[in-house]
Amino acid sequence: MKRIKIKELLSSKDFGASVKAEGWVRTKRGNKSINFIALNDGSTINNIQVVVDVANFDENILKDITTGSCVSVIGKLTESQGQGQSVEIQAEKIKLYGTADAETYPLQKKGHTLEFLREIAHLRPRTNTFGAVLRIRHAMAFAIHKYFNDRGFFYLHTPIITGSDCEGAGAMFRVSTLDPKNPPLNEDGAIDYSLDFFGKETSLTVSGQLEGELGAMALGEVYTFGPTFRAENSNTPRHLAEFWMIEPEVAFNDIHDNMDLAEDFLQSLVKYALENCKDDLEFLQKMYDAELIERLKFVVENKFVRLPYTEAIDILMKSEQKFEFPVSWGVDLQSEHERFLVEKHFKKPVILTDYPKDIKAFYMKQNEDGKTVRAMDVLFPRIGEIIGGSQREENYEKLIARIREMHIPEKDIWWYLETRKYGTAPHSGFGLGFERLILFVTGMLNIRDVIPFPRTPKSADF
Ligand code: 4AD
Ligand code: MG
Repeated sequence: MKRIKIKELLSSKDFGASVKAEGWVRTKRGNKSINFIALNDGSTINNIQVVVDVANFDENILKDITTGSCVSVIGKLTESQGQGQSVEIQAEKIKLYGTADAETYPLQKKGHTLEFLREIAHLRPRTNTFGAVLRIRHAMAFAIHKYFNDRGFFYLHTPIITGSDCEGAGAMFRVSTLDPKNPPLNEDGAIDYSLDFFGKETSLTVSGQLEGELGAMALGEVYTFGPTFRAENSNTPRHLAEFWMIEPEVAFNDIHDNMDLAEDFLQSLVKYALENCKDDLEFLQKMYDAELIERLKFVVENKFVRLPYTEAIDILMKSEQKFEFPVSWGVDLQSEHERFLVEKHFKKPVILTDYPKDIKAFYMKQNEDGKTVRAMDVLFPRIGEIIGGSQREENYEKLIARIREMHIPEKDIWWYLETRKYGTAPHSGFGLGFERLILFVTGMLNIRDVIPFPRTPKSADF
């Protein structure tokens, strides 16, 4: 007999039919003559109730059906008498696939803290919270591909292992097969990477952008969606050492087109979540964040504010707000500043543009003023920066001058520079941090709780 997913069973009207459901026991309650098992198979946050007439079953099996155990149930689908559920299964056959010792099973009781659940990342997907987060995460990944596919963008697979440093932040994980205890040395006593696997020094990528630009100069509109790695030691609720990033890159777009795309993209994704993840969002709203759905709707319904960095600095300096990090023209904004602008001052998502060139990457288009670049960061309530992007410098002379000024090794990116030599074109793009999007959509507060297996400093256990 074929298993039917619980999500499907719960909306079925096929009363009287014989059905098979399989899943993990969330709770079992009842008395000597009748037991009620709440069964969940991950297809939905909702459980199906299995009604067990104790007299018809082997006591020893029923005894072992405890929270966390895995069972297969065949029975009659019936209209439920109880409150809160529409259908239930009157069990006829029960097979116990796997027990879960009530003495040791860590999820025996409800109400664990999120901190505790991080220590059992191998089991936390079985909780309602992580089930909801992971289903929403899937829905958002799907919505991202759908958004771009519907608009004629091509998904470009950019490399994970790279010999160049896109963001120039210098916080990369090295990839090497050399013996760490006894690496080959050159005449100067430095490690001789010419003998390494790739014949040069290589790292895990911090961004697919540089290769994305190559794609845009051929296919017009591309996007990447892959894992990226940053070895910065930032132990914050918004930073991971391994995170996923979505990076569209579009030929002929200027910074205004880029902002239009970013705004429409974010609004479409949030709208998709509201339309397709209702049960999970309602659960998260009830458990964690009473304003969640209201906040999501607010972002979909309101135009984002757009203003230059210089004006934002003005607002921050004139505000009465006490900041931990002082503000002046030229500083990089901290999340406290970003959140002040979004949550207190404008009370809307904000796109800041035209940042000082010294706090941004080499590839951004230089403005006439000689001081700022055509950068754009999208700032969101509760999150701060959710997107970082820019119009790119397409002029070869200006780009090479900036590269030299910043002492970026030209030999590593000669191929990137050739796009400016052969058929250069204005173009723009941005990167959306996937986990920051999921933080926003789920209302969770710590980025470690929106990725199945978080990698952060001193933590890669699972
Ligand atoms: O602003 P970033 O560093 O921009 C880039 O990497 C560009 N190459 C993107 C582009 O123009 N194609 O990163 C982009 C976004 C940030 O806005 C943030 O949402 C996310 O990536 N991000 C992180 N998310 C989690 N953990 C980290 N350590 C992150 N660093 C950046
Ligand atoms: Mg950034």
